[in-house]
Amino acid sequence: MAKRVYRPPHNVVAGRDMRNPFLGKDVISILDFSRSDLELLFRVADAMQKFRRSKIDLLSDKVVALAFFEPSTRTRLSFETAAKRLGANVIGFSAVEATSIAKGENLADTIRMLDSYADVIVIRHRFEGAAKFAAEIAENPVINAGDGKQHHPTQAMLDLYTVRSLFGRIDGLTYAVVGDLRYGRAATSFIYALTLFEPRKIFLVSPPLLKARPEVIEYLRKRGVPFEEVDSVDQVIEEIDVMYVTRIQKERFPDPMEYEKVKGAYRITLNLLKKGKDHLKVLHPLPKVDEVAHEVDESKYAAYFVQAANGVPVRMALLSLVLGADLEGKLGLKL
Ligand code: NCD
Repeated sequence: MAKRVYRPPHNVVAGRDMRNPFLGKDVISILDFSRSDLELLFRVADAMQKFRRSKIDLLSDKVVALAFFEPSTRTRLSFETAAKRLGANVIGFSAVEATSIAKGENLADTIRMLDSYADVIVIRHRFEGAAKFAAEIAENPVINAGDGKQHHPTQAMLDLYTVRSLFGRIDGLTYAVVGDLRYGRAATSFIYALTLFEPRKIFLVSPPLLKARPEVIEYLRKRGVPFEEVDSVDQVIEEIDVMYVTRIQKERFPDPMEYEKVKGAYRITLNLLKKGKDHLKVLHPLPKVDEVAHEVDESKYAAYFVQAANGVPVRMALLSLVLGADLEGKLGLKL
C-alpha cells in the first residue's frame, strides 16, 4: 500500500528508511504490517510512555489533519493528543455538517485539499474502502481511523500493545472475541492482528446473526490459526486469558428489525468472570453500552480504561514513525 511515488521527507537521513517500515506509508489495514513492524511500533510506544503527559518536539514542523466524517471520541482525541504531545499542529473536523461536504463537495476534493495543507491525513468514514480511496488520491500518508465495518488498524495496534503490556506477550494466549463480529471493525481488525502472532486459540463468540464475516473465517483458515466459533462466553470462560468484548454496532444494521432481534444478546457480569482464570483480562475498544456490567469496571478484570489510555503512546509512536521523526537522534532509539 506504498504511495505511488515514494518521497522520503526532507529531514530523513538516507538509509534510515530501510529500518523504518512505516515511513511515508499508508495505514489502511493491520495486515499491511508484519509482526516485526508491530514489534518496532510497540518499542517506540514504550519510549513514548515517558512523554504521554509532557511533550517531545519530534514533529514540530508537521501538520496532522484529522478528517472525521463519523462520530468518535477516543480515536480522534487520542490522535489529537498524540500529535500535540509530539509538537505537531492539528487541523481538521469531527462532523460532516461542519465541512463543505454538507454543501455537496465530494470526498475526493476534500482529501485533495487536506493533502495540500497537512503532512498526514487521519480519516474515519462510514464507507468501507474510504481510507484506501483517500490514500489513492493523497500524496501524503493516510491513516485509516475506521472505515465502515471493515478495518480499524490503529485500534488493533493499541489492543495488541495492551495485551503485550498486561501479559508480557501476545503469543500462546487464548482469546475470546465477543460480540458483533459481523459489523464490528475493531473486532475484525483485532482478529486479523492476532494472525500476525501465535495465539494458542481464538474463540469467536457471537449470536448466530452476528458471526464473523466469511472473508475473516477464510483468512483464519488460510493462515492455519486455531479458532472456533461458539455462541456463548459461558462455553469458553474457563479456558481464556483475554476476553475482547465489543458493542453491537446498531448504526451499521441495514434493517432496524434485525437489530431488535439481537440487542441485549450477551452481557458480561462479574459472576461470569469469576468462573474464569484469575489473571483473565477484559478488553473493549469502547464505547460500551450495556454489554459489560458496571460492576466489572472496578474489578481486577477490567483492562479497557488502560487500553484506551494506551491510544496516546501508540498513536504517538505511529505518527512519529510514519512522518520520519528523528527517533534515533532525539530519543536514542535504535530502529
Ligand atoms: C470502535 C469503532 O469506532 O469502531 N470504537 C473506537 O474506535 N474505539 C468501536 C465501536 O464503536 O464500537
